[in-house]
Formats: sequence, C-alpha cells, structure tokens
Amino acid sequence: MKDTYILISVLFFIFTLSNYLTVHCQVEPKETLAKLWNIENDEIPQYLSIEKNLSMADGILKPLLDDDNFGGTYIDAIQNKIFVNTLNFTKAEQIKNLTEIRQYINLLNFTRTSNSTAKLNSRF
Ligand SMILES: *[C@@H]1O[C@H](CO)[C@@H](O)[C@H](O)[C@H]1NC(C)=O
Ligand SMILES: *[C@@H]1O[C@H](CO)[C@@H](O)[C@H](O)[C@H]1NC(C)=O
Ligand SMILES: *[C@@H]1O[C@H](CO)[C@@H](O)[C@H](O)[C@H]1NC(C)=O
Ligand SMILES: *[C@@H]1O[C@H](CO)[C@@H](O)[C@H](O)[C@H]1NC(C)=O
Ligand SMILES: *[C@@H]1O[C@H](CO)[C@@H](O)[C@H](O)[C@H]1NC(C)=O
Repeated sequence: MKDTYILISVLFFIFTLSNYLTVHCQVEPKETLAKLWNIENDEIPQYLSIEKNLSMADGILKPLLDDDNFGGTYIDAIQNKIFVNTLNFTKAEQIKNLTEIRQYINLLNFTRTSNSTAKLNSRF
C-alpha cells in the first residue's frame, strides 16, 4: 500500500514537471522576440501590434511600387516605420499623394538606394 502511494506521488511529480516544461517552452519564442527587438517581455504585445499594423500598410503599398523606381521595402517595428528603398523621389511624391496611401504617410520613410528591384532580380 505504501509502495503504491510512493509510485503515485512520483507519477504526479513527473506529470507536474512535464506540464511546467511545456508551459515554459511555449514562453520561449516570446523571449527570443524580445531579444531580437531589444525590448522587455511585457512590451512584446505592443510591438507585435505595431508590426501587424505596418505589415497591413506594407501590403497596400507594395503593389504600387514599380521595379525600376523602387528597390523593395522593409519593416522596422521599433521605429514604427516602413523603409522604402527609393531611386526616383518624384515617383515617391506621387505615391505619397495617392488617396489610399495618404493616411499612412507618417509610417513611411523613403530612403535613397541605387539598387532597383529590377536590377536586383537581374543579378539572379
Ligand atoms: C495603425 O495605423 C493607423 C493608421 O496609420 C494608426 O492610426 C494607428 O495608431 C496605428 N496603430 C498602431 C498600434 O500603431
Ligand atoms: C521618375 O518618375 C517620374 C514620375 O513617374 C517619371 O516621369 C520620370 O521619368 C522618372 N525618372 C526616371 C529617371 O526614371
Ligand atoms: C497630388 O494630387 C493632387 C490632386 O489629386 C494634384 O493636384 C497634385 O499635383 C499632386 N501632387 C503631386 C506631387 O503629385
Ligand atoms: C528616415 O530614416 C532615416 C534613417 O533612419 C532618418 O535619418 C530620417 O530622419 C528619417 N526621415 C523621416 C522623415 O522619418
Ligand atoms: C547595391 O547592391 C550592391 C551589390 O549587392 C551592394 O554592394 C550595394 O551596397 C548596394 N547599394 C545600395 C545603395 O543598397
């Protein structure tokens, strides 16, 4: 009877431990994200929401960028900006002036580059 009690105790301990480890492992990717962005764990939801917002705006912007005047975009959640690699700033002004983009202007940063998407693609 005593042996059975010990056995059950041990099994219960293992069960509890494995639950703890499972929970612990689910938390792990968040900590990695915090490290990547150099922020605290409790700031993650805020920056994920910014990232989601930027991705949405990026999805609207991308189809409007042609391959000769632009060289792709990248999102920076920490700065809350979409950086747009730009060759032709006249074209950039026209994009900024579009009705669907105007509301996102303060999220955009057009940065000079000499590599267009067309040029980058032709290298491969
Ligand atoms: C998402 O984007 C909209 C439009 O630019 C802005 O009004 C809103 O504050 C943004 N939300 C976050 C969490 O950045
Ligand atoms: C820059 O864009 C403008 C507006 O689309 C266009 O008229 C002009 O030819 C472009 N310049 C170059 C160097 O491609
Ligand atoms: C922006 O749009 C307005 C009207 O849609 C137009 O009059 C103006 O010339 C445009 N500006 C640029 C820089 O394209
Ligand atoms: C765009 O980004 C560059 C580099 O981070 C910065 O120097 C510049 O002030 C930014 N411009 C705007 C309008 O945010
Ligand atoms: C353009 O691409 C070349 C080769 O990949 C790279 O060395 C250069 O730094 C790039 N220039 C800019 C402004 O991104």
